[in-house]
Amino acid sequence: MNKALQAVRGMRDVLPEESLGWQAVESTLTAILKQFSYAELQLPLLEFTDLFARGVGEATDIVEKEMYVLNDRDGDSLALRPEGTAGCVRALQEHGLLYNQTQKVFYRGPMFRYEKPQRGRYRQFSQVGAEVFGFAGPDVDAELIVMCQRFWEALGIEGHVRLEINTLGSGGARQAYRDALVAYLTPLRDQLDEDSQRRLQTNPMRILDSKEAATQALLAEAPALIEFVDPESVAHFEQLQNLLQQLGVPFLVNPKLVRGLDYYTHTVFEWITESLGSQGTICGGGRYDGLVERLGGRATPAAGFGAGLDRIALLQEVVGSANLPKLVDIYICYGGDLSGAAMQLADRVRSALPTLRVRTHMGGGNFKKQLKRADGSGADWAVILGEQELADGTVMLKNLRNGEQEAVSEAQALQRLAAASPHISA
Ligand code: HAM
Repeated sequence: MNKALQAVRGMRDVLPEESLGWQAVESTLTAILKQFSYAELQLPLLEFTDLFARGVGEATDIVEKEMYVLNDRDGDSLALRPEGTAGCVRALQEHGLLYNQTQKVFYRGPMFRYEKPQRGRYRQFSQVGAEVFGFAGPDVDAELIVMCQRFWEALGIEGHVRLEINTLGSGGARQAYRDALVAYLTPLRDQLDEDSQRRLQTNPMRILDSKEAATQALLAEAPALIEFVDPESVAHFEQLQNLLQQLGVPFLVNPKLVRGLDYYTHTVFEWITESLGSQGTICGGGRYDGLVERLGGRATPAAGFGAGLDRIALLQEVVGSANLPKLVDIYICYGGDLSGAAMQLADRVRSALPTLRVRTHMGGGNFKKQLKRADGSGADWAVILGEQELADGTVMLKNLRNGEQEAVSEAQALQRLAAASPHISA
């Protein structure tokens, strides 16, 4: 097939049935974010490439090899955003919203990374992210984590994810550890895998994340990050653990968790599932107290997370916890030339039952054909309007699942539909 008629590799079409799952995840997450008083910040998909180089870090995989970069007609180098945090800081800073004030915002939408596509990993994927500015304490870290826990509970996947947390300490502690790790690994360089050899120069802490068994064996004797962490960060981390215990959120301390973006300090965390194979991280985040300053602002404590919608929707599907609406709930059939009356009836049904999806038959045909379509649409109910019903002021209400039908007044039909539809009050 002509290549131009296929989706670009790693760019996915989310088809209508799957979209229902997505919308359910996105609306659940954003409803909870609003409950926690986070406000939406809508950000552009394009930013100057340099924002990510400075924000996420030159030596990270994301910036080094995964960005979609283009030159616009002015010769500026722009990048499709690979993540949301840098753009969020840029926007709040640019609009003076970080000066002497606190902020709690969320964003959603597509991110782009040129990674090797596989199940759960795409080149265009979607995140819901939250960011908080102006609070230095562990209570904010805990609130972000609790909010995630509430997401998973609302989606029925809380039994399929685990929370891993770690502390990277202050920027200075991180640098001291980095130096110690390089000093330890440099004599062993030849025994490291190829990726780790490269990272030894560029981003040594990412070696801790290596999936290679031989590299992990060498790391067993390496200096431990926690030994370098300053006492203040240790206290912050202990308070966070204390809060999580009080709030009943189970966690595991993973001393090797470092995350793939350079801006983190202190707390980092990931939510991981075993049900999606190797792409099991459904959400990741942490504190990034140095980023605002690094991007030209005043030193501002900050923390946040990004949750991957593609993976969350996939996980819900895998564990069967999705409780999805149908594409069509009610199918309206009509006789002869009553299409105008049928469309009016459909409008009244939509006004009375605003959460239900009402489809009016289109394209003519006898009742038999229309009812076949009604059945094929997945709707549970057909509302049938014929000449007789129109004259009597009634409709024929047919339960498409058991085939029973009855002539009732329109008001009665609406009452029965309301009573029979579980998501009507949603
Ligand atoms: P991240 O860990 O790079 O963090 O991405 C967050 C989440 O996005 C991941 O846990 C994963 O669920 C999803 N994700 C990442 N890459 C892909 C992909 N190629 N395909 C599908 N899903 C993917 C960040 O982006 C940070 N900005 C999070 C953050 C916000 N930290 C502080 N504030």
